[in-house]
Amino acid sequence: MNNHGHASMFSATLEDKLGSARHVAVLTGAGVSAESGVPTFRTGGEGLWARYNPTELATFEAFSRDPDLVWRWYSWRRGIIRGVKPNPGHYALAEAETLFPRFSLITQNVDNLHRRAGSTDVHELHGNIERSRCLDCGLFFVEDEAPPSEHVLHCTCGGMIRPDVVWFGEILPETELLFAQTEAQRCDLFLTVGTSGLVYPAAALPLIAKQSGAYVVEINPEPSAIARELDECISGASGAILPLLIDTARRLRTSA
Ligand code: OAD
Repeated sequence: MNNHGHASMFSATLEDKLGSARHVAVLTGAGVSAESGVPTFRTGGEGLWARYNPTELATFEAFSRDPDLVWRWYSWRRGIIRGVKPNPGHYALAEAETLFPRFSLITQNVDNLHRRAGSTDVHELHGNIERSRCLDCGLFFVEDEAPPSEHVLHCTCGGMIRPDVVWFGEILPETELLFAQTEAQRCDLFLTVGTSGLVYPAAALPLIAKQSGAYVVEINPEPSAIARELDECISGASGAILPLLIDTARRLRTSA
């Protein structure tokens, strides 16, 4: 039993926050899409980059050296993403938009699954795999259901088209990063879900939230690199934990 008089898997402090927070911010990483069947980057032998060397694929240098190789890799990843569906964790976060006076969803994922689950306001720190842009003239392209291409595509201006994702060594989109940092500073409750906490500046967001006075909770089957700095870690899969957490918030907020 907790101090609300019923059995709960969540701590009394977290329940208080779920019931009373005015502003909730969430950072998601590859782990939220794992249960949909999208490989994460760093989980054991199954991570994408256990099979492919990231320094050979996800950098501007790699793209300049062998654009077809990098393009094929992204086509393969797009194919996986198109073939999967959002999972209960994504749907719970879409519902969360309606529960709190302010709710900010910040993601490192490029897979569109939050939007496909119904989230209407998704802040993408690392770009989007369905979007590409011309290296020369900067024109954007949004992929349709076209079959994956084996070769890099070219713009009408002749320039090479690259995926509009953030590669190693590149800076994050300024507006989205500034938004994320501000939301981390201002929220009452911050959830960091399915991210290893290894890649900055995204990994600093839970720490900024903590320093600014928010209650910071991690949801991950394994402790992340920053777990010890946070208020609470819930060990489990986001597809299982997030629906319970959002159900709890709904119950507390509708009975208040
Ligand atoms: P990682 O692959 O580094 O970490 C995935 C995290 O998800 C790990 O901490 C897992 O324990 C956790 N996880 C696995 N299954 C889960 C589940 N069912 N529920 C919840 N968590 C689960 O992915 P990210 O932290 O997102 O950047 O990686 C950060 C960035 O590194 C990526 O955005 C990408 C990569 O370099 C760029 O491409 C710029």
